[in-house]
Amino acid sequence: MSLNPASSAPGAQRLSRTLAFRLTAAYSLAGLLMVLLGTASLYIVLRAELNKSTDLFLADKLHVLRTMLRERPDDDDGLREEIQLENAARRYQQFYIRLVDEHGAPVMTTPGMEEQLDLDELVRRTRDRPGASIPMAGRRGQPFRVTSADARVGTAPSRNDTIQIAIDISQEEALLRRYRLWFWAILLAMSFFFPLIGYRVARHGIRPVEEIASTARRITSTNLRERIRAEGYPSELASLAGTFNEMLDRLEESFERISRFSADIAHDLRTPVNNIRGEAEVALARARTADEYREVLESSLEEAVRLSELIGDLLFLARAESPLKNVRRQKVEVCELLSAVREYYDATASDGGITLVTAVNAAPITAELDRSLMLRAVSNLVSNAIAHTLPGGMVTLAAAADGEAIRIEVSDTGVGIPIEALPRVFDRFFRVDLSRSKSSGGTGLGLAIVQSIMTLHGGSAEISSELGRGTCVTLRMPAIAAG
Ligand SMILES: Nc1ncnc2c1ncn2[C@@H]1O[C@H](COP(=O)(O)OP(=O)(O)O)[C@@H](O)[C@H]1O
Ligand SMILES: [Mg+2]
Repeated sequence: MSLNPASSAPGAQRLSRTLAFRLTAAYSLAGLLMVLLGTASLYIVLRAELNKSTDLFLADKLHVLRTMLRERPDDDDGLREEIQLENAARRYQQFYIRLVDEHGAPVMTTPGMEEQLDLDELVRRTRDRPGASIPMAGRRGQPFRVTSADARVGTAPSRNDTIQIAIDISQEEALLRRYRLWFWAILLAMSFFFPLIGYRVARHGIRPVEEIASTARRITSTNLRERIRAEGYPSELASLAGTFNEMLDRLEESFERISRFSADIAHDLRTPVNNIRGEAEVALARARTADEYREVLESSLEEAVRLSELIGDLLFLARAESPLKNVRRQKVEVCELLSAVREYYDATASDGGITLVTAVNAAPITAELDRSLMLRAVSNLVSNAIAHTLPGGMVTLAAAADGEAIRIEVSDTGVGIPIEALPRVFDRFFRVDLSRSKSSGGTGLGLAIVQSIMTLHGGSAEISSELGRGTCVTLRMPAIAAG
């Protein structure tokens, strides 16, 4: 994966590195601890088992010899078999036995016992704990376990011999030594392998995060189509990727709207400018009479008025969006405001054969509003209503106070708006029927301006309409400025 060092990559990478490092460290420590505990406890169990089997062997031998001495005190062959011959056949766990009489004189000894062990020391060590298994080093340092116990000879209580047994446990010790060696070797190997494996696992887990970051880095205003493919991601990261993609969807949509908006502006500005230019060129092609010039000027003026209205609307919308928007609120009597709008449009309405009425309660409704902005909003609604209502129809202006909120309604009995167009009528430059609206001189900015005026007042605008029956726009806003 290539990283662009100029972008925010270093930050993202540093984070991932720390995360990977931490995960690796935690994983390795836990792994090593488990191996340590596992092997150490196995070692302890093994050592205990080996000791136990040695002790059992000693106890067993002791038992056999005591039984022999008691039951068959004269069976010298049997004793010799046990003490002198059996050992010679063994290669593993060599053991040595000595039988001593009451006066300390040896009766029978396994050959080689004196070379292996200091027998006086054996006597000293085992004296206080008859029958117990006691560790002792041989003459050449090899490890032994020794035991000794008295044994009655025959059934008469006259004679009491002592049995001394020593068993060579160097093989067991070697086994344990090898085990310890392996133990350290495995631990050493694991302390290399665990970090390696842990690092790979951590990197694998973090990869989606890095992919998300690299996608984010690739995204520019011209490249909003880029999305994160979250297949195979763990669910937490899949939801992160999903949220990210949703954000991109929204960004892409608003970018598209903005570019559509600029295309519309360009188009709407070009038409009147082209008209003025065309007429001027035609007029200048040859000499004209004063009347002809006047006609051209009048037509140009009309286009210029249209242009400046359009520019004025655009400027208004741009300003309303900026954070420096200022609303000059003052006490406004809403019913009086509606009457003023009605008076202004009376002539236009009656020219189109439309009845324009205000329906307001007797009680005055006062609110803190920007009077000129509100006049503009209501005027836009009334001019729309008149433009889309056929002769004989009616346009009604109504207002009502609803506790802290006030409501202004402009309804008409006009042509209505198709249901599929309703959600878009507040969009800039949107017109339901281009040819019809063009003739009425609309720019498609009227309702967008209404909506931004409502936003400036902390209110909202809603529209409802039925094709062929009429339209109703409702403005809602708080009567008193919030905050
Ligand atoms: N009262 C209404 N009756 C029918 N259609 C309407 C009404 N008000 C608005 N519209 C539709 O909504 C569109 C957008 O309105 P507006 O933003 O004021 O733009 P303009 O009036 O400049 O066309 C209009 O072109 C028209 O198609
Ligand atoms: Mg309009």
